[in-house]
Amino acid sequence: MLEARQAPAPATQAPATQAPATQAPAPAAGCARTWVGREAELEEYLKKAPVASMKDIPVGVTRPRRAFLEPGGPIESMAWKVVPPGKPSGYWESYKSEIAAYELNKLLEMGMIPPTVERQIKGDTGAAVMWVSPTKSFKDLGGVPQPPGRYVAEFTRQIIRAKMFDNLIANKDPNLGNWLVDEDWHLILIDHTRSFTSMNSLAHKFDHVDAALWDRMKALDEPGLTAALSAWLTKPEIKGILNNRDRLQKEIDKLVAAKGQSVFVR
Ligand SMILES: Nc1ncnc2c1ncn2[C@@H]1O[C@H](COP(=O)(O)OP(=O)(O)OP(=O)(O)O)[C@@H](O)[C@H]1O
Ligand SMILES: [Mg+2]
Repeated sequence: MLEARQAPAPATQAPATQAPATQAPAPAAGCARTWVGREAELEEYLKKAPVASMKDIPVGVTRPRRAFLEPGGPIESMAWKVVPPGKPSGYWESYKSEIAAYELNKLLEMGMIPPTVERQIKGDTGAAVMWVSPTKSFKDLGGVPQPPGRYVAEFTRQIIRAKMFDNLIANKDPNLGNWLVDEDWHLILIDHTRSFTSMNSLAHKFDHVDAALWDRMKALDEPGLTAALSAWLTKPEIKGILNNRDRLQKEIDKLVAAKGQSVFVR
């Protein structure tokens, strides 16, 4: 994990418009974004579903676990992340940031983060994240995967959106294990415990901007963010999102000055 953290996000180093690093096997049909359009139902289920068993996830410095739910429901399992707000290893981290990231992704109509809720299990409070399957992480695939030709444009666009989001939330942990891809080449984002910090430097360099997502980011304001996120973020953290957005605006202005309107993907 240390290695992935020290070389954060080769996704960053391989801009979306350049050739990806590895050739992944051609995926069979299989969509893991099964939550889209069913968010409210699945959130309620995640909050209450009885846990049948719990197992350690073999990777991950925050020691996440996988909780298997009683069979017969709409979700088979969930990641269980007990990360009390604090700085145990030099980075600010919190399970609440996991939930805030999901809620912000909803506000921005991204549909890229699986349902995430607060719940209690055996006296611990944490974030329960719907387990998405079938997926592989970019780390499992050895780097940024190369989709077959017909998926390239949309996959590239999803990478552009993911970078914009990590930059907006100042994600300090943008490693390859946190970007998952399903068999239909949907990019799914997990692991936001080290986010909602202030932006000293960009989580990802970028050379393209998704125009529709940027419009939605520009429309964010403090009342709207407070209504959506105040259960999970402090006032300074909410203001931090807007500051990060202003930093992004400056970066985008520079990019447009250098390259023109072609930086916007529409
Ligand atoms: N909701 C999920 N759906 C599918 N796979 C998941 C999910 N949550 C975690 N995983 C798998 O478990 C791994 C570790 O989870 P996660 O990244 O949340 O832990 P972490 O301790 O915060 O990780 P790290 O420090 O390595 O970034 C992920 O790389 C992924 O392979
Ligand atoms: Mg991770």
